[in-house]
Amino acid sequence: MELVRATEAAAIRAVPFIGRGDKNAADGAAVDAMRKFLGTVNFDGVIVIGEGEKDKAPMLFNGEHVGNGRGPSCDIAVDPIDGTSLTAAGRQNALSVIAVSDRGTMLDASSVFYMDKIVTGALGRGVVSLDQSVGDNIREFAKAAGKPVGEIVVAVLDRPRHMGLMEEIRAAGAGTQLMLDGDVAGGINAARHESRIDMCIGIGGSPEGITTACALKAIGGFMEARLAPGTDTERANALAAGLDVDKLMSIEDMVKGDNTFFVATGVTDGALVEGVRRVGPMIRTESIVLRSRSGTQRRVIAEHLAEKWL
Ligand code: FBP
Repeated sequence: MELVRATEAAAIRAVPFIGRGDKNAADGAAVDAMRKFLGTVNFDGVIVIGEGEKDKAPMLFNGEHVGNGRGPSCDIAVDPIDGTSLTAAGRQNALSVIAVSDRGTMLDASSVFYMDKIVTGALGRGVVSLDQSVGDNIREFAKAAGKPVGEIVVAVLDRPRHMGLMEEIRAAGAGTQLMLDGDVAGGINAARHESRIDMCIGIGGSPEGITTACALKAIGGFMEARLAPGTDTERANALAAGLDVDKLMSIEDMVKGDNTFFVATGVTDGALVEGVRRVGPMIRTESIVLRSRSGTQRRVIAEHLAEKWL
């Protein structure tokens, strides 16, 4: 629960940058705030998924130690804003995210920028797979869910690389929900039983994929992924890092064990959580806290005295 303070702080500090057109400034403010709060949390964390290599990211870089050094030894994934462009444009669905697991359990896929992913709720287990065609996945999932194919909604990042994928989804008789950015929220929404999305598929960031896997452990969702190196250099770097780029990865391959935490606070409003808002003298934040060991999902609404944040 302490971790939520770090995503709340990052989300609040990003607010002055919402709709101001400068995604790096928004990210910088969120990174600063998250790092400051992480320093106070009782754990000995090593960032496995961070802002990048140390020479490019001065803070929250891969390999950096965070936390106050007391308490459990953990791997940590940070995404101070998933949806920096959404934030800069003033669009919906930007989140501040942290995922934590036991030390040595989180896959370091930092050498490959993208992965191919499929996410559904638990119903998809043994029913859908990246190794099946999109049409078969949609038909089989609809059968398992007991609803017509025409009611299936598939979330996809709106990218030119996904034009063929969108056509396949529509040719199967299902509908798309196109996301401008933010496939962590898309994946979690696909796995939640009360959401309008049944499935989230396509190529998105590898860090976001691992973070999503941590969340799915707590909500019992299904996911498969395969690294998608875009160049020969990336492929070579992946092999040098000991990654198998052809492997069909399960959630367990991306994060091992049964002790993951996932925390996300809304920066802007979205289907998962509301964004930061001012309510009189207070700043209100909404977060979700997912814990795999207990299978608990908590929603945390916090009100922060605005004058403390001036
Ligand atoms: P950032 O906030 O870091 O820009 O990431 C947003 C995002 O949409 C992720 O959610 C997604 O996994 C990735 O970018 C997709 O990458 P690309 O924009 O290159 O298609």
